[in-house]
Amino acid sequence: MELEIKNLHVEIEGKEVVKGVNLKIKEGEMHVIMGPNGSGKTTLAKTIMGHPDLKITKGEILVDGVRINDLKPNERAKLGIFLQFQNPVEIEGLGLLNFLNTARGAITEKPLQFKEFMSEIKNTSKDLSLKEELIGRSLNYGFSGGEKKKTEILQMHILKPKLAILDEPDSGLDVDALKVVAKNVDSMQKEQRMSLLVITHYSRILDYMEPQFIHVMRDGVIVKEGGKELIHEIEEKGYNE
Ligand SMILES: Nc1ncnc2c1ncn2[C@@H]1O[C@H](COP(=O)(O)OP(=O)(O)OP(=O)(O)O)[C@@H](O)[C@H]1O
Ligand SMILES: [Mg+2]
Repeated sequence: MELEIKNLHVEIEGKEVVKGVNLKIKEGEMHVIMGPNGSGKTTLAKTIMGHPDLKITKGEILVDGVRINDLKPNERAKLGIFLQFQNPVEIEGLGLLNFLNTARGAITEKPLQFKEFMSEIKNTSKDLSLKEELIGRSLNYGFSGGEKKKTEILQMHILKPKLAILDEPDSGLDVDALKVVAKNVDSMQKEQRMSLLVITHYSRILDYMEPQFIHVMRDGVIVKEGGKELIHEIEEKGYNE
């Protein structure tokens, strides 16, 4: 899936946070957005997914050439867009298995038989070193930070998006978990030719992933773009160059 963002301006509570972003992600490409805290990265991600608190005041979001500005989040999800939350919410009483099953039923055109679905969950949990018992618990409820992040990746496997946006998939992961998650996402991206946008603060995750483009966002706009070398430059010099 191709994503194109043209001169996007977004407001939250009357305050402009995204101030003219242009970004194009072609099918099968991996892009990374870095940038200081509060620069609007999460806001941009949530706007692509259609979060109702955010108001697009100018510009457009196109997927495969079709404008999606006015689509609801569930309609965007059906098109194949997926957002991993920076801070996944805990929902007590909503079983993880039930949640995944309902979500895949709503989104996937040809849902798997339940037995195959269960084995996919088990295999993916194993690949991610995610305790299988978690699927019997409430969504993210009492999960550790790392378990929440891995559960989002499990969800991505089940939904098989065409465009995935991962908002700090590496935050809160220990070194081993980071490696497991990054390699897993990288191989899924390659196998399925998924378009991928990863938001991160650290170069570490990129030891296991191969993004073609790095964008630096600052105060609501993309101020710098380049290849992987840009990450190391940022790590050495920070954003104030
Ligand atoms: N619901 C809200 N109400 C008011 N201001 C908000 C709201 N959500 C976000 N903002 C503000 O918008 C700005 C951008 O926030 P955003 O979460 O997009 O930054 P970010 O680049 O993702 O930062 P970080 O790296 O810390 O995750 C911040 O100043 C934030 O306080
Ligand atoms: Mg953020």
